[in-house]
Amino acid sequence: MYGAVAAPAAGSEIVTGLSATSAWQALASHHVQMGGVDLRALFANDPERGTRFTSEAAGLYLDYSKNRVDAQTMGLLAALARACRLRERVDAMFNGDAVNTTERRAALHTALRAPSGQSLWVDGVDVVADVHMVLDRMTAFSDQIRRGLWLGHTGQPIRNVINIGIGGSDLGPAMAYTALRHYSQRDLNFAFVANVDGAALAEATRCLDAGKTLFIICSKSFHTPETMANAQAARSWCIAQLGDAAAVARHFIAVSANIEAACAFGIAPEQTFPLWDWVGGRYSMASAIGLSTMIAIGADQFRDMLAGMHAMDEHFRQTPVENNMPALMGLLAVWNNNFLGAQTQAVLPYAQDLSRFPAYLQQLTMESNGKHVTHKSVPVGVQTSPIVWGVPGTNGQHSFYQLLHQGTRLVPCDFIGFGRGVPSIAGEEVHDHRQNDLLMANLFAQAEALAFGRTADGLRVEGVEEAFVPYRVCEGNRPSNTVMAHRLTPYTLGALVVLYEHSVFTQAVIWDIDCFDQWGVELGKVLAEGIAAELAVADLDVDESAPLHDSSTNALLRRYRHLRREDK
Ligand code: F6P
Repeated sequence: MYGAVAAPAAGSEIVTGLSATSAWQALASHHVQMGGVDLRALFANDPERGTRFTSEAAGLYLDYSKNRVDAQTMGLLAALARACRLRERVDAMFNGDAVNTTERRAALHTALRAPSGQSLWVDGVDVVADVHMVLDRMTAFSDQIRRGLWLGHTGQPIRNVINIGIGGSDLGPAMAYTALRHYSQRDLNFAFVANVDGAALAEATRCLDAGKTLFIICSKSFHTPETMANAQAARSWCIAQLGDAAAVARHFIAVSANIEAACAFGIAPEQTFPLWDWVGGRYSMASAIGLSTMIAIGADQFRDMLAGMHAMDEHFRQTPVENNMPALMGLLAVWNNNFLGAQTQAVLPYAQDLSRFPAYLQQLTMESNGKHVTHKSVPVGVQTSPIVWGVPGTNGQHSFYQLLHQGTRLVPCDFIGFGRGVPSIAGEEVHDHRQNDLLMANLFAQAEALAFGRTADGLRVEGVEEAFVPYRVCEGNRPSNTVMAHRLTPYTLGALVVLYEHSVFTQAVIWDIDCFDQWGVELGKVLAEGIAAELAVADLDVDESAPLHDSSTNALLRRYRHLRREDK
């Protein structure tokens, strides 16, 4: 059962590099010493635990007391962070050093939320000044859309905004819109199209009047095939409805680091918003990639989101590791992953509006830290990124929580909840505390149940028939964090996003990996390009006499061509 899962992963991994360091070995020995210590004992021995193992920053409260750690564990994790030079690596990132070593560039997403007036010079350019110039352009543009002053080709104000992009050019904007839709201007409709499956764009444009529709083509490279295919299809749809190719000028905006390609697509330079090569896709929601967010919630609220991000940046930059919320979360993730052997991490927001947050975190975490070699090009030697997944509570309780409570795998959980829900259906100003109370009661209950479970003795006292006791036992001792804030505001969302960004960075520093590249996605892209070219040749049959691929791929291609023909 659960105890078996908790074998120290460190023992099963190559003891070299990181795992051979004294800081790592100290944690490995400590883990063995802790042995069977469980959360019941840890709480029983320390009545203050629930308030001591906590941290506060940028309007967020983190309770990490329900992790299988004691004061010594936390001290050893802090020592590991120091041994891995976390402080120096944080400074290097904030200062604009080329921390993205495999692409030889800076990762300066923190500059996207630096207040105006600050400066940061990189290669002779004040990047903060550049950021604020673009923010001001975004403000002017989004104001025009919101006030109905930006007119489409047929002289009508824009009422529908469709963001076309994928990965970081979609997940951040889509997540932020969903999270903050309560703040959005309700006479504007928003849709986010990512998938190259034509169904996505078809559904988003169904019943829309092209004359009132604006497409924001978000692509750092302006080269991503899915986005380019959707952008072309959107252009055809727009021209077909409005009967004039010149309509593109009033209905298409581009956000890209490749302005040349955007212009070649037919978007006027003044309708393009720049990105910089020092902004990674998954770290870009505070840049012009967030234009749809700004149009939805307005420039003031967008700047509040930036303020929340900046507050968490400053906390991360300045706070000693022992009380540094993102660093603590990152170190606990390392502990759960590398020492307790957890392979996945559930993110469970008790807020419907955070329904896209787990998907956003999947890219942030797994594209960043799903790496196998260190900055020194040698194998990491220990497990890297956990698999991140989750859906909002309480929905998940009625599907997969059974496994969390009684399954054989260890799944650390992050619970996220708020003191107040968004105003209820009863009316804009009427808050129904009862529904939020019920929601939060479930959050607290789940974290409590995971930690403390239900013992066989307790069940017997309750009079449960002996034969059924084993089925009803919940072992407990399952770790979780709880993050709470007053409300899901733009400021809070900004702080929450950056909490996870820097937790991911902390983990990457411990493993000494580049969390800003993504070479692993290249191979599939190259192969897909080749196969798409093969499929474009109408009658070419892929048979055994001309094997272009392995026998499985060849057979699948033959089957696909056959299925495609049947459709005619
Ligand atoms: O597929 C990987 C990726 O490069 C992501 O890192 C990125 O967010 C996404 O594709 C989209 O890239 P772009 O913004 O250049 O279209």
